[in-house]
Amino acid sequence: MTTTDALASSTHDAVDAALRTVDANLAFLGDRYPDDTTRDGRYPLRPATPDLPEGANRGWTTSFWPGQLWLAHQLTGEQRYLDAASGHVASYADRVAREVDIDTHDLGFLYTLSCVTAVRRTGDDRARTAALAAADALMRRFLEPAGILQAWGDLADPAQRGRTIIDSLMNMPLLRWATAETGDPRYARAADRHTAQLREHILRPDDTTFHTFYWDAETGEPLRGGTEQGLSDGSCWARGQAWGIFGFALAYRETGDASFLAASRRCADYFLAHLPADRVVFWDLVLTEGSSAERDSSSAAIAACGLDELARLLPTDTEGSVATVRYREAATAMVDSLAASYTPGPEAGPGAPLLLHGVYDMPKGVGVDEGNLWGDYYYLEALTRRLVPGWESPWWVRGVVPRPADR
Ligand code: GLY
Repeated sequence: MTTTDALASSTHDAVDAALRTVDANLAFLGDRYPDDTTRDGRYPLRPATPDLPEGANRGWTTSFWPGQLWLAHQLTGEQRYLDAASGHVASYADRVAREVDIDTHDLGFLYTLSCVTAVRRTGDDRARTAALAAADALMRRFLEPAGILQAWGDLADPAQRGRTIIDSLMNMPLLRWATAETGDPRYARAADRHTAQLREHILRPDDTTFHTFYWDAETGEPLRGGTEQGLSDGSCWARGQAWGIFGFALAYRETGDASFLAASRRCADYFLAHLPADRVVFWDLVLTEGSSAERDSSSAAIAACGLDELARLLPTDTEGSVATVRYREAATAMVDSLAASYTPGPEAGPGAPLLLHGVYDMPKGVGVDEGNLWGDYYYLEALTRRLVPGWESPWWVRGVVPRPADR
């Protein structure tokens, strides 16, 4: 068997195992949503609130479930996955129309995977209306003169005012899609300005990243960085760095602005220099080989997708080609390690995650050493990137972009 055949065969095995878990969860969940993370290794339904029943569509992570269903459809072509994924559009349309828990920048994660993908795959008009409404809601969070989108909470909340976070880079594709769809340049301009502010302030001179950064919302002055989910304000939260690799690469892809490519590569090179022997990072990059701290498998899955994205964009000159091989090999090694040692056994069953050993929020003790929905989604995306030729990513607005001979 050649190396390529062996890689294809191990990827097929990993996909088969992941899809068995998706199937069990599909039967268990129906049209309800699991919680952000597993508890003792199983996803409970999303807890009820005073206003919403158990399993309702709220929070920032629900779309990673229909996102998995869309990937399952691409991997298999099976109609039942298409039906199940399309079936979620009604819930997202209702959520944005009734403004249920939409005071967040995470509208990009939520509506890219659930509705923009539905528009692309099935031409669903209701999904288009909902995704554009979500882009408008996201635009209400754009603060002048700072030129950033506030991440969390009510815009009048002094604790959150003027604050954004590195994760927000992954919410920019919704705005860029809205410009492509409507011809209104405001959405993409906001994405450009926000991304440039993160490149300038959230990415530090030593190539690490802050998790969050505050601007003065009145004057637009950059104020200070800090963490929410990392080990300390000055440390480098692993998932933030992974969002940086992927998010800046996507910004470069859509704009051609080489400073975003350079930002993505700086995030990537730092991340790769801080991998432990099994290639799956600890939850903060100040923790390295020999630490007894928890890993964050979701950071590895996100980084693997980001590295693959980067590898598709680098020029074909000598330096670009060498870097492309390095990023591809690193992504492959991470995904292989995840598949070998971070997945549940073949009889995982209903409520099981695709990936074990993630960390949601260590400082708050939430989802520590558990599976989580975004880890599951990006693991399946990483496998899909490897297995489906000509795969077009939900995060892309432009179609396939050829690698330049030189830049
Ligand atoms: N976007 C939140 C997180 O990565 O935990």
